[in-house]
Amino acid sequence: MLLPRLLSLLSLLMLVAASMPVAKYRPLPSLREQDAMEKKWVEKRHRLIPKILRAHGYDAWIITMREYAEDTVFRSLVSTTTTFSARRRTLFLFHTHPNITSPIHLVDNKPEIWDELNRVLDAIQPERIAVNIDEDMAFSDGLHTGEGRLLTSKLDTNLMMENVWAMVQEGFSEQVVQVGKTTAEDLEWWFRDVMRWRIGTGTWFPPTVDIYRSPSEPSLEQDPHMREGDMLHVDIGITAMGMNTDTQHLGYILRANETSPPRSLVRGLHRANRMQDMNRREMVPGRTGDEVFFAVKRAMKNEGLEGDVYSHPIGDYGHSAGAIIGMANWQDSIPGGGQNKVLKHYWTSVELAGFGAVPEWGVEKQRFELEEDVYWQESTNTFEWVFGQQTEFHLVQPKKGGDNNPKSDLGTSATSLSLVEGLGKLLGWHFARWL
Ligand SMILES: *[C@@H]1O[C@H](CO)[C@@H](O)[C@H](O)[C@H]1NC(C)=O
Ligand SMILES: *[C@@H]1O[C@H](CO)[C@@H](O)[C@H](O)[C@H]1NC(C)=O
Repeated sequence: MLLPRLLSLLSLLMLVAASMPVAKYRPLPSLREQDAMEKKWVEKRHRLIPKILRAHGYDAWIITMREYAEDTVFRSLVSTTTTFSARRRTLFLFHTHPNITSPIHLVDNKPEIWDELNRVLDAIQPERIAVNIDEDMAFSDGLHTGEGRLLTSKLDTNLMMENVWAMVQEGFSEQVVQVGKTTAEDLEWWFRDVMRWRIGTGTWFPPTVDIYRSPSEPSLEQDPHMREGDMLHVDIGITAMGMNTDTQHLGYILRANETSPPRSLVRGLHRANRMQDMNRREMVPGRTGDEVFFAVKRAMKNEGLEGDVYSHPIGDYGHSAGAIIGMANWQDSIPGGGQNKVLKHYWTSVELAGFGAVPEWGVEKQRFELEEDVYWQESTNTFEWVFGQQTEFHLVQPKKGGDNNPKSDLGTSATSLSLVEGLGKLLGWHFARWL
């Protein structure tokens, strides 16, 4: 009976493997094309704003700012590929008058700008004018989230996420990790270089890599290099075309006698997966962030799951406008953001940590931190993973046959740099990093 059992085990393994999409690097459009795309989105937003004003009982909306003191919505109103900041005094006037252009866009640092504004307002005769003043929300009103609807509806949502996955799949592999040599900081800089030079994106926070290991091993202070049996964690996001992503994945460095991580680590990941699905499922449009948070907590309790939930909207900003579902340091109702309702048309970064014991390590409470972005799928009426859900550890395979120096960008760039530096020293020159 061994063979059938083996076969069914094999097919189970294949099923699990099939659920994980394999990512590859895909180039983003050229900057010129990105600019054209952004300008189209921006024009579309501009066209929609009067309708929104009407829907909320406003006749006009004034947004005014000066260079380097931009309104939080500014970057949503211009192409960020070509417009980096406001100029002089920059003023947008959106309005609902059918015969006058909207928005009126004024750029001037002289008092005449106010005369011009008053002249247009005179023609429009608005009764109610919206301005961005709000005591609770940094983003000052819901319009910002509404704009996210336009943004995401026209996007190839997969492109940026797939690149993040590709980076993590490569970074958490024996291609890059050299056991006994690579530190968490090395890998953080490797990710920074890949996103900058290979993918061509920026980031809204420096990626962080963590190493979790058994207390019976040397501590991280004693040995900061990655060791067999280490669990790896990364928190990483990229920024392109005015949008942001946020992802946390887990990896594991296999020992020579292992083909998978210890059972309790796998269990910890799967329990965190369960929490992710609860979070996604409880995000019913129209519910507030707080309502979703407490619904997830109830569902967790029913299944005996422990952990923290701290999901947040993502888009124009990394921690963007919309419904906040708990916070990492605040597992409760969140003033302001927790009362915002879940809307269909913006992304949410489902972020959480499941807690689980790791008896193999003698650890009672290990955090399993995962983060994955979701978008509204119209055809299924559910929030779905933008690229996928991490359901298996990224594995760093053990070294085979004494090949102690696997090829890696980390290794080659460091080597060529030190060669250049060595040559420079010999000649009495100093080479800057960018050489
Ligand atoms: C807009 O223009 C049309 C045609 O000239 C005119 O009939 C209408 O009254 C105007 N609307 C407003 C609000 O001024
Ligand atoms: C693998 O080897 C380690 C020592 O390197 C040992 O502690 C562990 O029990 C072994 N695991 C298995 C599954 O044989």
